[in-house]
Amino acid sequence: MASLLLRPGRDADLPAIFEITRQSFAGLAKGRYSPAQLAAWMDGCGPETYREGVEAGRIQVAELDGAVVGYVDFGPGEVTRLFVLPSAAGRGIGTRLLRIGIRAARKGHDGPVVLESLLNAVGFYEKQGFVATAKGFSSQGTAETPPIEVVIMALPPTASDHR
Ligand SMILES: CC(C)(COP(=O)(O)OP(=O)(O)OC[C@H]1O[C@@H](n2cnc3c(N)ncnc32)[C@H](O)[C@@H]1OP(=O)(O)O)[C@@H](O)C(=O)NCCC(=O)NCCS
Repeated sequence: MASLLLRPGRDADLPAIFEITRQSFAGLAKGRYSPAQLAAWMDGCGPETYREGVEAGRIQVAELDGAVVGYVDFGPGEVTRLFVLPSAAGRGIGTRLLRIGIRAARKGHDGPVVLESLLNAVGFYEKQGFVATAKGFSSQGTAETPPIEVVIMALPPTASDHR
């Protein structure tokens, strides 16, 4: 039986975190974005992009059978990033990571928990009680990156996180 460990991210995880983000977007979001968007989205990103989050204790990773396959990044009132490798998707890992992110985002924060959902993930977040509040564009990328449409979603303060 596969073993799943959820733990804080470490400096040694930075290459895996970068690779998960790249592969997850390329593999799981590809139906909703153009080849140009898919090719450019990771422009300007590398393992170092995630160092500040790891060192601030804002990234939790999921380790499946000893390999890091997903992570969540959060801050007060927001879930900033959530990615699972395509090969590990559909096993409940995204849900487990999201719950960790919601709990952390609510610490010392009374308002809704917000996030930017990629177009492909809106249904996933709706299952967890988030509602779409606006359309927008991803804050990731460089000035040259084609705009990446996202949906701004919010989890009301009173909503359970389906624990
Ligand atoms: C979205 C994502 C994090 C989901 O992770 P996951 O580990 O595959 O999700 P889970 O296995 O926990 O799925 C939980 C439920 O949501 C459903 N679900 C998963 N992805 C979904 C999607 N994209 N749209 C609608 N429902 C989805 C599952 O079928 C499952 O339903 P069930 O409880 O009825 O069986 C993952 O697909 C991913 O990393 N996608 C690419 C990157 C991305 O979009 N990240 C979020 C944007 S910020």
